[in-house]
Amino acid sequence: MTDDVRMEVEELKRLLRYHSRLYYLEDRTEISDGEYDALMRRLCELESVHPELASPDSPTHRIGAPPLGSFPPITWEPPMLSLGNVFTPDEFREFDLRLHKELGSDDDLVYSAEPKLDGLAVGLVYEDGVLVRAGTRGDGVTGEDITPNARTIRSIPLRLDGSPDGVLTVRGEVFFRTDDFNRLNRRRVRVGEKPFVNPRNAASGSLRQLDSRITARRPLSFIAYGCAEWPSGISTQEELFQYFNGLGLPVNEASRFCTGVEQVEQAYRDIRSSREGLPYEIDGVVIKLNVAEQRERVGELSRSPRWATAWKFDAEEAVTRLIEIEVQVGRTGRITPVARLDPVLVGGVTISSATLHNEDELIRKDARPGDMVIVRRAGDVIPEVVKSLGSPGGDRGDAFVFPSTCPVCGGPVVREEGESAHRCMNPSCPARIRESLFHWGARDSLDIEGLGSVISTQLVDAGMVTDISDLYRLNHSLLAGLPRMGEISASNLLSALQHSRSAELQRFLTGLGIPGVGRVVSGLLCASFPDLDSIMNVTVDTLEEIDGIGPVLASALFSFWSEPVTRGVVDRLMDIGFELPNPRYDRSGRHPMKGLTLVFTGAITMPRSEARRLAEEAGAKVTSSVSARTDLVVAGPGAGSKMTKARQLGIRIINENEFLEKVKK
Ligand code: IVH
Repeated sequence: MTDDVRMEVEELKRLLRYHSRLYYLEDRTEISDGEYDALMRRLCELESVHPELASPDSPTHRIGAPPLGSFPPITWEPPMLSLGNVFTPDEFREFDLRLHKELGSDDDLVYSAEPKLDGLAVGLVYEDGVLVRAGTRGDGVTGEDITPNARTIRSIPLRLDGSPDGVLTVRGEVFFRTDDFNRLNRRRVRVGEKPFVNPRNAASGSLRQLDSRITARRPLSFIAYGCAEWPSGISTQEELFQYFNGLGLPVNEASRFCTGVEQVEQAYRDIRSSREGLPYEIDGVVIKLNVAEQRERVGELSRSPRWATAWKFDAEEAVTRLIEIEVQVGRTGRITPVARLDPVLVGGVTISSATLHNEDELIRKDARPGDMVIVRRAGDVIPEVVKSLGSPGGDRGDAFVFPSTCPVCGGPVVREEGESAHRCMNPSCPARIRESLFHWGARDSLDIEGLGSVISTQLVDAGMVTDISDLYRLNHSLLAGLPRMGEISASNLLSALQHSRSAELQRFLTGLGIPGVGRVVSGLLCASFPDLDSIMNVTVDTLEEIDGIGPVLASALFSFWSEPVTRGVVDRLMDIGFELPNPRYDRSGRHPMKGLTLVFTGAITMPRSEARRLAEEAGAKVTSSVSARTDLVVAGPGAGSKMTKARQLGIRIINENEFLEKVKK
């Protein structure tokens, strides 16, 4: 290669950086888009002929990733949880019974019953009464900082009445009132824009605008329903609502406080029947223990509290015609029959396909092409065919026969003894690869922005990717050549892939998509073993010794590792150079705080997330509230109600230094 080429590449990089900076940072241009693209194409060309010149910081990886163009992350401590569901009075009674057991009491429990608004959960941070930060829930731990946007919402006070001292993190819902939503949609249609499908999407789209001037023109509303750490002196949800009222924070006036299950059931029915008259859409009633101290005693699961549940309204149903039955092949080879339908509106969303689950369900329902069927959709659950009504005209298609070979790859399909599902047994089936790529990029896995289902499909269909490891061999010109893939998306995807190489072992394991091994089980494995090698070579017996891993999971893992195809993929990924740090594992082999439940309160010098990580690595469980089950409280300056509580309960309190000494032991 001549020096001329090297110089041309350097010059192109310099020019591209300069013009992209002008465009994104200074909001002006000196060359046309076409000229910019031509420079980019030339650089791609040279880099593909001379790959040694494609430096990791080349603009082809990251065309002007706009520094002003994304939301900064915001961390939630304690995490913003989600809610479990119940659908029937029986299920609610079970929930109530469980709480009685946990609390060891026969007395009727007091609950709040709050309409469940269908919007977007947000957290608002007030310091000395002033709104300083606002963010979306995100994955519960990290959300997007949307402070300028939140400031445009009229019902969010910029300053709280009485300016309470200290930090108050309020949690609540941003949503559209129905009339505001309809007005917005009418306006959009008038100016030729696509209307939003429902108020929830509209709220999310409006709040997550990079340009807050757009948010300002969207009439969003807010109500408060909780807070991260309760202010001292507040000990029930009812008091919290009164406190919010006094601060000028809007709360839901339709909330009710109930004693015992009958009253809750009554409140549920009342709220359900008032639904039509409410100025906003709701999809259920959130039921929470009223008393803070009881909440602390029952605690929380990894993603949702035990002390609250969402009692959802019945699923919405509609009748439509079944056009045909197809099968879909999932990541694990599972084959699911899916009904293609005449599009129909169910609970505000248009549905054109619905699952029939498996062969047994299909036979039981005897749904056939031409039949009228009842379809149902419940919350975020996949729509399903509930029942076939047969064909009014009598013109029924043939009963569906389950394929004996995979419709995608032609490989053998097997239904194993005692299983309800049929599976494609070919690990190289394109459908399985597609789904595994998509899973690899998912949030709990490698979290690769831009690796969605459309791209995954395109990559597999174009033959560019035959397993996960191929993703790391893609280059800019290959990617940008895909239909509907622009230069910028291609660069963004490449840099997201690049970034994913430094992922921690837990994400990597989750991403492999081993049946039954999600984020939580991966976490257990990472805490018990130092590295991937040890996990891959572990015996079933050793696996079963781990708390939380049973025989089924142990043998699933074992057979996953013994499969030559999956082993090959893992080997190739390792060749690519994944380092797989595993901070969850305690290298000393000892867990100095094993089994302890710990609470942080007050100000500590290191970030809370860091302190939490240290504690967890030492084997401790970190919770957000002090209860009889708490073993240790780490308190810093400004600690309030939690410290008082710990004293009352006689729990040991230590400071940050003592904590550090303990974890380092
Ligand atoms: S409490 C730990 N209260 O429902 C408690 N949530 O699946 C978590 N929601 O993400 C939330 N109204 O967006 C709570 N009165 C209410 C609510 C409510 C709506 C939403 C919220 C949350 C989701 C839970």
